[in-house]
Amino acid sequence: MTRMTQTRDYLAELLTTYWFAPPVALWRAVELRVAAEERYERPMLDLGCGDGLIGQVLFGAKGDVDIGFDPWLEQLRQAARSGVYRRVDLADGRCLPYADGTFATVFSNSVLEHIPDVRPVVHEVGRVLQDGGRFIFTVPSDAFRVLLDGYIRLVEDGDERGAETYASLVDHWLEHHHYYTPEEWGNMLAVAGMQVIKTRYYIPERVERLWDRMNGRYGVVRRRSAWGILASPRLRPLGYQALLRRLVVRNLGRRWRSYYEMDVSPGEKGGGLLVVARREE
Ligand SMILES: C[S@@+](CC[C@H](N)C(=O)[O-])C[C@H]1O[C@@H](n2cnc3c(N)ncnc32)[C@H](O)[C@@H]1O
Repeated sequence: MTRMTQTRDYLAELLTTYWFAPPVALWRAVELRVAAEERYERPMLDLGCGDGLIGQVLFGAKGDVDIGFDPWLEQLRQAARSGVYRRVDLADGRCLPYADGTFATVFSNSVLEHIPDVRPVVHEVGRVLQDGGRFIFTVPSDAFRVLLDGYIRLVEDGDERGAETYASLVDHWLEHHHYYTPEEWGNMLAVAGMQVIKTRYYIPERVERLWDRMNGRYGVVRRRSAWGILASPRLRPLGYQALLRRLVVRNLGRRWRSYYEMDVSPGEKGGGLLVVARREE
């Protein structure tokens, strides 16, 4: 069983890793702070593990996750080198190459929103989980679009249509296909034999608004920015990027600290949603 310690500074860790895209580091640091509060029992599967970086930060590099899989070969090769997985598989969530009741935990971070029809994936998770096993996942929430800084500003200016267009552009940039409510997740999971035992919003409005503004400043979504040029991998041989990274970790690690630590107030929604569901026995 893996229990994460809460003394970890995910903000500093992720700014070090994603120094070239600081808002990505902020969102993911909050995500990991929240995910780290859960209990992860083995055998464990990481659904859509990508390059394994998030798995490595959360679970360490000692092979504590039994299997990570992803349909993206290049990412999977990096995941294999990350040391977090005992095995990696090239596979798709809609058709899992595992026997019924194999895993005690299926974990999935920021994956389901990228799959247009997620029902077959949820069905497969229900199938490969042991009785009493848990599906722990994070997704952008049903409030994600309306908490975007660009969306809120346009609504405040009375431009509802512009706000909708802005949110649609963000969906397009980030390749998000849906934002279900906790109830909708609950219904979908129930069909696959799982019962939701916990949902938790994270990324409160102030944090999402900062994140959205910073995506623009750091060229994460609109691609062209002075920062994007400075942080370009093509300029790595010039040698100045190590200094840039130190500056990011030191300055943003300080300036964004309170945002990293901010929780969603009771009764309010945040831009991210953690769901924990248990396979019914
Ligand atoms: C935003 S990345 C997240 C990766 C990793 N979980 C993380 O937190 O860094 C989304 C991942 O979902 C994977 N993905 C997309 N469609 C999938 C599917 N049908 N089944 C499993 N993974 C899928 C992508 O290949 C990509 O690696």
